[in-house]
Amino acid sequence: MSCTIVVDGFFGDGGKGKIVSYLAVADDAAVVARGGVGPNAGHTVVKDDVKYKLRMVPCGFVNEDTVQLIGPGVLVNTEVLLKEIKVTDIEGRFGLDPQCAIIEPKHIEEDQQGHLKEKIGTTGTGTGPCNADRAYRTAKMARDIPELTKYLKDVPMIINDALDNGENVVLEGTQGTFISLFHGGYPYVTSKDVCAAAVCSDVGVGPTRVTDVVLVCKAYVTRVGEGPLDGEISHEEAKKRGWDEYGTVTGRQRRAAPFNYALAKRAARINGATQIAVTKMDILYPEIAGSDDYDSLPDEAKEFVAKIEKEIGLPVTFVGTGPGVKELIDRR
Ligand code: GTP
Ligand code: IMP
Ligand code: MG
Repeated sequence: MSCTIVVDGFFGDGGKGKIVSYLAVADDAAVVARGGVGPNAGHTVVKDDVKYKLRMVPCGFVNEDTVQLIGPGVLVNTEVLLKEIKVTDIEGRFGLDPQCAIIEPKHIEEDQQGHLKEKIGTTGTGTGPCNADRAYRTAKMARDIPELTKYLKDVPMIINDALDNGENVVLEGTQGTFISLFHGGYPYVTSKDVCAAAVCSDVGVGPTRVTDVVLVCKAYVTRVGEGPLDGEISHEEAKKRGWDEYGTVTGRQRRAAPFNYALAKRAARINGATQIAVTKMDILYPEIAGSDDYDSLPDEAKEFVAKIEKEIGLPVTFVGTGPGVKELIDRR
């Protein structure tokens, strides 16, 4: 039995989706459940050269035997969800909790103007205003939406049953430690906590059941939206290094900076991480693209991994070498 949480050690977009998809296949997970905020996240999975940009559905869909769930803590955009259920072909093996709150057009409208757009630089997907309504106890719930009735499941009990039966479960977090409402630099943050403990609460799994927390850290740091970014380089410089990325949800160019050991260490502590996944190593070292063999890495890449392990005090168990589900070195 394993219960593995996947969270991001920086500002999001580290490649959690790809790590979750790999774990679903490699560990033959019985269940992958999504925690986190909602459709403000964009998780990318590249399977058989097809690129999926998922905002609602968990990334474990790549394993056809895995049940895909969305926990009660997560906000749902009905239209986006229904589309993604089709695209990923998970109709018969998908469930969301009746207590997921529903994003309505008024939330999206409110999120795309004024303080939220101008000052915070939100994704404009309505998540902040919806969480506000939820706290105010006026939110609509998944159980109120007829199109969702057939998908409603008691998510916490299904996950706990799987764990009781000795099966493997992966809990998929969204966003990143330093845009957490509690642990990021307020007010330049998302609308709730997104660290490992929050993911537990989002899906209804107690902390004592968790066996592993994988902290996903990209080989360089990116941030979208407003707020400080230590060591930020210019967009021109980012382009030169191949670090220019564009938001999965908003298309905005992500700001970039070199790997930040102090932030990674802080994130490891806040999340109770047990292992680290360093993604996009192939961007720093193009010669390793697609490799699954640690020994083949150039010395410089191995030194970088060793430095991360030494500074943070945790093993780097995964090294990302490409966007594909299996383009990764698994050192476990
Ligand atoms: P958020 O919840 O929005 O924070 O998303 P995320 O952590 O799932 O990351 P996202 O998919 O937004 O961004 C990661 C990008 O890197 C995607 O385009 C992935 O396909 C890509 N990616 C992930 N791992 C690797 C890797 O090891 N190498 C390369 N070249 N690309 C990768
Ligand atoms: P909101 O979550 O849309 O309210 O946006 C608040 C802040 O979090 C903004 O800076 C967004 O750019 C950032 N943010 C929200 N979701 C993500 C994500 O999935 N990846 C990266 N940044 C995000
Ligand atoms: Mg993303």
